[in-house]
Amino acid sequence: MRQTTLPDGTPLPVLGLGTWRLGEDAGRRRDEIRTLHAAIAMGYRLIDTAEMYGDGGAEQVVGQAVADAVRAGDVDRGALYVVSKVYPHNASRRGTVAACERSLKRLGLDHIDLYLLHWRGSHPLQDTAAAMQALVAAGKIRHWGVSNFDVDDLQALAALLNQGEPGAPGCATNQVYYSLGERGPEFSLLPWMRERQMPLMAYSPIDQGALAADPALAAIAQPRGLTAAQVALAWISSQPGVLAIAKAGTLQHLQQNLAASAVELDAAERQAIETRFPRPRRKTPLAMI
Ligand SMILES: NC(=O)c1ccc[n+]([C@@H]2O[C@H](COP(=O)([O-])OP(=O)(O)OC[C@H]3O[C@@H](n4cnc5c(N)ncnc54)[C@H](OP(=O)(O)O)[C@@H]3O)[C@@H](O)[C@H]2O)c1
Repeated sequence: MRQTTLPDGTPLPVLGLGTWRLGEDAGRRRDEIRTLHAAIAMGYRLIDTAEMYGDGGAEQVVGQAVADAVRAGDVDRGALYVVSKVYPHNASRRGTVAACERSLKRLGLDHIDLYLLHWRGSHPLQDTAAAMQALVAAGKIRHWGVSNFDVDDLQALAALLNQGEPGAPGCATNQVYYSLGERGPEFSLLPWMRERQMPLMAYSPIDQGALAADPALAAIAQPRGLTAAQVALAWISSQPGVLAIAKAGTLQHLQQNLAASAVELDAAERQAIETRFPRPRRKTPLAMI
């Protein structure tokens, strides 16, 4: 799969798997674990979760699927990149560390590869950043970052990190809503992040399924034997400095999405996409789901 890199050069696949809405229903848990295990076996290496999803239930599902996949010899833990997020109301200096410990326990892991502040809340950013840096130093997380931050939030974070300890690990990424239906980040956020070699993690890249039913995308997809959702994913995962987190609950969708991340769109296909989903001409507030 194509890769992008974190500011320190760590490679990441351009497509990861989302887990929102998993772990909410005990009756579905075994199926969810089986599907996630199958996803890992077919090649997914980056899994995105959060303490919020299913009130910790999604982290339990991820942890069990990872354990099953490692035990079955389908993957080495070191080849997986597990992302989780702290709730803003937990993101104090001590609260972040405690939330991370709880997530590690639910995941059954000794470290989280990337730990994000889910969105900006009322705890001072410098307390959250200090906690994140302490977690990196303790080996509990490998990298840290933020989510749902627009340029002004990232600038505020950068200013306080510049005043901090030299060499302390900085913010590695920002996960935001970005898709063909929501191209707002292209106006100033994505350029700002690209200048700093900070990859953008695009959540809801299929617009929560809506792009799969888009007739213009279907018309672009059909001659190549693709689906509309695959064209949407091929487009976003080929944007420089972007990796997409898509959620899929069926083996067919999982396979299609993995295949889409290797599709190269030609100039005519890109032009047809631009016509249907024009790029933003002015700044709009960052959209959130
Ligand atoms: N940081 C944040 O604040 C934030 C916010 C929202 C989401 N996220 C993360 O981003 C992930 C993805 O976002 P999302 O779940 O909102 O939406 P999404 O990935 O844009 O869309 C998921 C929907 O698309 C469908 N789908 C997937 N692959 C398909 C395919 N090949 N053909 C047709 N339909 C397909 C899925 O159906 P099936 O399930 O039936 O396959 C599901 O209904 C989340 O799971 C979560 O991890 C983060």
